[in-house]
Amino acid sequence: MDRSENKYEYKGSLSTADTDIPVTEPERQYFFMGKVKEIIEEKVQELGRPLTFHVTTFGCQMNARDSEKLRGILLKCGYTESDSEDADLVLYNTCTVRENADNKVFGRLGVLHGYKKKNPYMMIGLCGCMAQEDVVIEKLKKSYPFVDIVFGTHNVYMLAEILLERLTSEKKVIDVRQKADRIVENLPLERKYSFKSGINIMFGCNNFCSYCIVPYVRGRERSREPEAIISEIKRLVADGVKEVMLLGQNVNSYGKNLENPVSFAELLRMVNDIDGLDRIRFMTSHPKDLSDDLIDAMAECDKVCNHLHLPLQSGSDRLLKDMNRHYTKEQYLTLVDKIRERIPDIALTTDIIVGYPGETDEDFEETMDVVNRVQYDSAFTFIYSKRSGTPAAKRDDQIPEDVIKARFDRLLSTVRSIGEKKAEALTGQTLPVLVEEINKQDQSLVTGRLTNNSVVHLKGDSSLIGQIIDVHLDECKGFYYLGSKV
Ligand code: SAH
Ligand code: SF4
Ligand code: F3S
Repeated sequence: MDRSENKYEYKGSLSTADTDIPVTEPERQYFFMGKVKEIIEEKVQELGRPLTFHVTTFGCQMNARDSEKLRGILLKCGYTESDSEDADLVLYNTCTVRENADNKVFGRLGVLHGYKKKNPYMMIGLCGCMAQEDVVIEKLKKSYPFVDIVFGTHNVYMLAEILLERLTSEKKVIDVRQKADRIVENLPLERKYSFKSGINIMFGCNNFCSYCIVPYVRGRERSREPEAIISEIKRLVADGVKEVMLLGQNVNSYGKNLENPVSFAELLRMVNDIDGLDRIRFMTSHPKDLSDDLIDAMAECDKVCNHLHLPLQSGSDRLLKDMNRHYTKEQYLTLVDKIRERIPDIALTTDIIVGYPGETDEDFEETMDVVNRVQYDSAFTFIYSKRSGTPAAKRDDQIPEDVIKARFDRLLSTVRSIGEKKAEALTGQTLPVLVEEINKQDQSLVTGRLTNNSVVHLKGDSSLIGQIIDVHLDECKGFYYLGSKV
């Protein structure tokens, strides 16, 4: 990039040989936030307007949580948050789990380029899971030279340091690490909701399901120390948080590699003991590691929500083996029975992939059989997407699109009708709802969730946001309820 294009030439004193740069984290990052802030404040003075940022999040809850970290850092750097992408700094926190996630990002980068042509101060950043892929980096270098900063999933905490490098040089910065060298605690963080929060309990994944790219872009499993998790949740509760979502790609293997191993069931009990916390959720549970001890903890901990997301992927033993899932259809069904025996009214949801390489009609019927037997409250259904670098992508028995489409439509309509029937069964009951927001379509309504994660709309105003109130479920509209405060 031409130097004249960098409108932020730093006039203060900064050299990487600077002896005041702290060597320990997070102090080092706070130092860089301070330096970026000097530059931003100077520009704000000069322009007589705030410098704005926008973080756009794609993908899962992990990314949503990372985006809160990015926003926290940018606010500390002196930026003002904007709800539009027509801002002075736009960061795309990307997902690459399926191909259409990648395509969406590349398409939207074109739109950002349009904004950038009109705003000489605009910078564009790309981070998250796509950034961990070599093919993406090559494509960005070749066809998207207007992207200023690129960093990966392992150095989210370094945003201020990366930004400073960009602001003080004429080159764009690409800083993607192959491995996470550490877990940096105590960085600033700006929550999307005041009353609920995701909490990382572990990072990465060791499972290498044959179709999945996550282990390649998120690295190996690393658990946080339970003390760090508990003290973070206590701080959140003191700050008004009522509901936490414990996050990990496979929470059931939490703590196994800690110096003093702690199981997920033990962690759940510790979190349940935190005064002032009302609700605990977690994502995601791998069926292969779901212990009896965890089922007991879920049944006994009063704050644990009445919901379990238990990804199935396929009902065919042959495909499950090929997928490297380490359970059979029967083992999965037995697990479901065991859970329902202990927690009879628990809501069960799942993820299912249609059209995995080599999937026959018989394989698909096995999946339908599980869906019909388990009677899920809802399910995310995905068309298999070939991810280069994964074992499944190398197979030559990929399934034709029309066959996948027919199976997918059949699965979706079955999942929907079962979900509607299950939801209908709660109509007429009075249940606690955590009110989350003003309804987007109708401002006289607020929207909240039951502990089973179903959505409820009811008459009310912003004073109810963040409160848990008893609501009578007047009417079921398929996937949501209309209710009234009692
Ligand atoms: N760690 C979680 C899943 C994270 S990815 C777990 O194991 O359950 C979320 C979901 O995306 C997966 O459950 C799977 O159903 C789906 N998925 C992952 N890779 C996919 C691919 N290549 N094609 C289609 N769906 C995929
Ligand atoms: Fe992907 Fe499997 Fe890990 Fe989930 S458990 S993130 S599906 S590899
Ligand atoms: Fe996507 Fe990365 Fe999550 S690939 S699903 S954002 S871990």
